[in-house]
Amino acid sequence: MELQKDDFLPAPVIAAEETVGLEIDKNEKKPLSGPPQKRGFVSVRHLRKVYRIGDEKVVALGDINLEIQQGQIVCIIGTSGSGKSTLLNQLAGLEKPTKGSVYIGNTNISRLDENRLASFRQRHLGFVFQSYNLLPTLSALENVALPMIFRGVPKSKRDKAAMAMLAAVGLKKRAHHRPTQMSGGQQQRAGIARAFVTRPKVIFADEPTGNLDTKTTISIMQMMVRFARKYHETLVIVTHDPEIAEYADRVVTLIDGAITSDKEQTPIYDVGEASPEETLLEEALPVAAEPKLQGDAEESNQ
Ligand SMILES: Nc1ncnc2c1ncn2[C@@H]1O[C@H](COP(=O)(O)OP(=O)(O)O)[C@@H](O)[C@H]1O
Ligand SMILES: [Mg+2]
Repeated sequence: MELQKDDFLPAPVIAAEETVGLEIDKNEKKPLSGPPQKRGFVSVRHLRKVYRIGDEKVVALGDINLEIQQGQIVCIIGTSGSGKSTLLNQLAGLEKPTKGSVYIGNTNISRLDENRLASFRQRHLGFVFQSYNLLPTLSALENVALPMIFRGVPKSKRDKAAMAMLAAVGLKKRAHHRPTQMSGGQQQRAGIARAFVTRPKVIFADEPTGNLDTKTTISIMQMMVRFARKYHETLVIVTHDPEIAEYADRVVTLIDGAITSDKEQTPIYDVGEASPEETLLEEALPVAAEPKLQGDAEESNQ
């Protein structure tokens, strides 16, 4: 089905003055007008994604505009096939949009070539997947240490940080277990440890509790939200489950590849008790000295 222009709600509009110092995407033909609105840390403009299967065209995303502020916990909700994973994959630079752009900080990630994009993801982003995506031949510890290799953290520090992170998610005793030797909930806790160990600016989670029971779902959600709040990280969660959405500051609804509602809300405050190990985490994580991501709130607010 080809989506009609009228199917979309008015897009959030970005004033040109707010984009000083930013690259302007030449492909953005539509003029920016209307009331000023601050550009988000994650900024999506006129995003369109069309898949082609033979002669068939699937418009997975029509014309998405979205501004996400740093530290915001956003839930993208919709039924199966509404385009949630497609949107997340474009936001996280896992796929290239057909049209439009995605900025993270001041970087237009839609313009990066594959190598730079991979490097950007490794340096700045974290991912949590429904099926955990742990490497089966590696232990929990090795899986969690992996993203630090790409950041050039020396081995002794990697192991120390990965162990501290595993302790924080309650998996100290499973550190040397492989994924197949762990339950789904344990694997996802390792997945969370891997996503957060580098303290990335943005974490993307696609149906992170989709394969888990209710009790485990709650503890996984509490854990992710606790970490994101603690480090003022932006968390974008995709789900079809309204109960997951209750943890978010903001709920964006997708229907047939279009945003039909975008609401801020008071999130669930109960994010559980942090373990003693978790409270020690901050000093235990020897995050590699990183050049600041352009567009950090501290920089762009000046
Ligand atoms: N790689 C692909 N090739 C072709 N069509 C796809 C592909 N990925 C997703 N789609 C289609 O795009 C639409 C949105 O899919 P998706 O983003 O996976 O939805 P959701 O995550 O909300 O279930 C669906 O119609 C789906 O069939
Ligand atoms: Mg999906």
